[in-house]
Amino acid sequence: MTESTKAMQTISFPQNRSCPYHPPTAYAPLRETRPLSRVNLFDGRSVWLVTGQKAARELLVDPRLSADRQHEAFPSPTERFARLNDRRIALLGVDDPEHNAQRRMLIPSFSVKRIAAMRPRIQETVDGLLDTMIEQGPPADLVSAFALPVPSMVICALLGVPYADHEFFEEQSRRLLRGPAAEDTQRARDELDAYFYALIDIKRAEPGDGLLDELIQEQLASGALDREEVVRLASILLIAGHETTANMISLGTFTLLQHPDRLAELRAGLRAEPPLMPAAVEELLRFLSIADGLLRVAKEDIEFAGSTIRADDGVVFATSLINRDDVTYEEPEELDWHRPDRHHVAFGFGIHQCLGQNLARTEMEIALGTLFERLPGLRLAAPAQDIPFKPGDTIQGMLELPVTW
Ligand code: HEM
Repeated sequence: MTESTKAMQTISFPQNRSCPYHPPTAYAPLRETRPLSRVNLFDGRSVWLVTGQKAARELLVDPRLSADRQHEAFPSPTERFARLNDRRIALLGVDDPEHNAQRRMLIPSFSVKRIAAMRPRIQETVDGLLDTMIEQGPPADLVSAFALPVPSMVICALLGVPYADHEFFEEQSRRLLRGPAAEDTQRARDELDAYFYALIDIKRAEPGDGLLDELIQEQLASGALDREEVVRLASILLIAGHETTANMISLGTFTLLQHPDRLAELRAGLRAEPPLMPAAVEELLRFLSIADGLLRVAKEDIEFAGSTIRADDGVVFATSLINRDDVTYEEPEELDWHRPDRHHVAFGFGIHQCLGQNLARTEMEIALGTLFERLPGLRLAAPAQDIPFKPGDTIQGMLELPVTW
């Protein structure tokens, strides 16, 4: 065994980032063994870590890799996540053909056209939150005043979930994704499930016009879905629909404030034709890779890149490293709004590629564009190194973001 292989085997995944917008420095040796390495998980288990862009694209469409969290060999990045594998997760945790049936029901609600029609409402939400923040005066915590409520309000409107309940579901979502303890994760999931069972009953008596109402009136009524399946879908949509985008807005803002030249260029390009913002959002998605660790298990042996991924082996995709693969990207460590190839796997790839990506992109464009247009003097209200960000074992983002203007 060479020295570098020995070092490789001791690297554990996931690890905390040292800077909120760069991959953990502890992953640096993994770049040398691209596209495939071995890393250890919290339970001592050794799994494959995919770190190359081309390899990720090939493996994420390989049907021999399963997303079924109830597979007994499914890898878990933390004990908290392991505890959740006792129950099915809709979409994200099912393989085809079941996955395809679930996804087909939802695709129309997340199409480019449907999301484009939501633009005025998203803009109104963003304007309203900024009005309040500006009225209250600086300083503000951008996470609680803006980054979290924008996607939270938007996904509530889309699903037909009352925003008045946001403190409850944001809290369950926080407990689910970040603990503190493993048992608490299961309790949070159960409380959220109970909430949705009750909401289904309310909506059956008094239908609204959200996606959840459609699922109840069409799929539940026809027997295509049972109550449990509706609850599973509602949970994944609500959680995935607000936590992720909230983190992109908070961490995106922090990153822009730390890159004043890129920010100045972006500001100048806000009203350009074509506007610079869509390319900037794409580059921020690549650069920040907030969902850093997509999970799969091999159902059969797979010969890949000179190695054999054995049946029951865990396979983890480190998006932060994949999206900085120097074979694909020139100067991958730089933020560059003008990259010729904008492909990345920040939304995953293959059948589980993010269902909400059109929505997320639109929210980010409107939220970041409006924020920097309306507050030209926006800046951090605390030293950058003192601002807390999320630990490596969850979706990446800022815990708080004190700003002034
Ligand atoms: C910038 C924000 C977002 C990021 C970075 C993100 C990232 C991802 C990633 C990486 C996956 C694939 C996971 C895997 O392959 O294991 C995924 C799947 C998914 N995302 Fe997103 N997401 C975002 C926003 C949203 C929004 C707004 C929604 C709205 C409901 C959403 C709903 C979903 C769903 C339902 C899946 C599972 C899809 C499937 O398995 O077919 N996401 N997301």
